[in-house]
This record gives sequence, structure tokens and C-alpha cells, in this order.
Amino acid sequence: MNFSIRSVMTAAQDAYAQNDDSSKRSIFREAFKFYRRRGKDADLSNVLDLRVGNDYIGLRCVPVHSNVDVSHIPGLRPTNEWTLTTLDTRPGLYVLNDIFTKDGQLDWMQNCLLKYAEPPNVTNMHVDKSYFGENVFVEKGQKLRWVTMGNDYNWTDKVYADKPRDQMPSGMIDLGLAVSKILQLDELRVDAAILNFYPEKSNLSPHVDRSERSIEKPLISISLGQDAIYLTGGKTMDDPVDALHLQSGDVLVMHGEQRLVYHGVPRILATRKFVDERKAINSKVLDYVNKCRINITLRQVD
Ligand code: OGA
Ligand code: MN
Repeated sequence: MNFSIRSVMTAAQDAYAQNDDSSKRSIFREAFKFYRRRGKDADLSNVLDLRVGNDYIGLRCVPVHSNVDVSHIPGLRPTNEWTLTTLDTRPGLYVLNDIFTKDGQLDWMQNCLLKYAEPPNVTNMHVDKSYFGENVFVEKGQKLRWVTMGNDYNWTDKVYADKPRDQMPSGMIDLGLAVSKILQLDELRVDAAILNFYPEKSNLSPHVDRSERSIEKPLISISLGQDAIYLTGGKTMDDPVDALHLQSGDVLVMHGEQRLVYHGVPRILATRKFVDERKAINSKVLDYVNKCRINITLRQVD
């Protein structure tokens, strides 16, 4: 028995084994289709709960002990309230669970929608020329799908610019540095970010992030808003795949041999309810975050 295949995608692997047309099919694609298509009665029993350790599959969830100061970074809980999840089979993959306060999550999401989606940052609607003005989120809502910051990523050519267009917000720079220090990884000096916005029925196809010129640096991925099923595979589309349950405030880090693996988001699970107790959040933002997911990836290109 091969225990290295953990959240075994039995259905996906069976479908794969039975199919002769191996040019199109792969374990990753089958797993992606499996989770994308299933409705409310979906079988999510193989999706890993990262907050519960499981020795049998080598899933460790431990408290964080760190002297790294995070008090200057907006919206974070103190590190002694954080937990860290790792998988023995994936050295270089880390998930810091639930590291933002409730209000911190709302403030970061509001910044993504009202501040970071504004010029001079670039959005999908600037590129497809469907919108030119300001207040893009207020005007266009769920049509906003991505934003590039710092060093703009060119999705067609799959390259970043020669040099950054802009300085990144200090909260992002400080968070990148703190997380890489806490995990004792190469220090991430954030010079680019991509924000992804996920309406409930959207997904993110399998891909590898290989365009950063500092590929030895970690990539930090922050989940906010509604939950997601996140698939992580290997260097090829036929390596074993794990399905992770990511929740608002979780921070996933890819480093070392996990930096260049295939990954994707087949499904958003809209179950989370945010309440604006402080009355500090725009009503359109609050409505959006109660339906959709926001992902921030902090990157070092150069
Ligand atoms: C990405 C990415 C994952 C996510 O932006 O490259 O893989 O959790 N995002 O949304
Ligand atoms: Mn990615």
C-alpha cells in the first residue's frame, strides 16, 4: 500500500487508470474536475482539514513559537495564537492557520477591493479595455477578477516587467518578511503581488508559478473571504495530488521543492458569514466578501 498518496483521489485515479487517451488526462485534471463539478452533496471527505493533525498521513499541526515581531503589521493576531501545518510528504509547503483578526481580515479585503484595485495598479478590465475609470470595484463588482501590483505580470507573455512600476504597500512587504523569518526561510523581499478575486462559481486552473526570477524565494499566498478547495500536486500533472481546505486568514507558503509544483483552486465553498461590528466596511465590500473569495500572492520577482 502506498501511503504517500494521502488524500487519495480514488475516483479521480480510477477514471485516469481506465482512460487510454493519456495525452489529455492527468491525475491533476481528474482531481480538478472531480472537485469543480460536485454540487452541495459533494464528497469532500478527502479534503484535508489543516487544523487537525493526523499522524497516519503525516499531517502536523503545531503552535507557532517565534520571537519575530508582527505587531507593526496591520490586522494580525499575535504569533502565539497562530498554528502551523505541514505535511511530511511535502517539505517546503507550510500553512499558517488563521493569522488575521476578524477585523483584520475585513480591512485587508476592503483594501484589496477599494484601494489596490485602483490605478496605477492594473486589473483585468484595464487589460481587456472594458473599463477605464476609477472605483472599479464599486462600478463593476464581480467582474473584477485580478489585480497586479508592484511589478506587473503580463499574463499573455508570462513575464514580469524589467523593473517594478511601484513600491509595494508596507503591510505586504512587512508580512512577507515576517512570515519568511518565522518559517526560517530565505527572506522574501516582496516586489510584486497578484490579487485574485473568486466569485462563487469561479476557479483557478492548474498552473506552476515559474515566472519570478527569484525562484529560490518563497511564494506567500493569503486566503480571505469564502473558503476554497486548493489542490497541490507535484512537478508533473501526474504526481499525487492533495486537496486542502483553505479558510479566511490562512497563509500558504511554497518554498524549496514545493515552489514549482502544480496547484489550482477548483472550487469556492461559500459558507462563511462576516459581520461588520465596527461599521467600518463599505456595504458593497461586505456583501462581496460574504459571497466571494480573495487571494493575495506575495512574490519576489528580482
Ligand atoms: C496564484 C494562485 C491560489 C489561490 O495566484 O498563482 O495560485 O489560493 N493562487 O487562490
Ligand atoms: Mn499559483
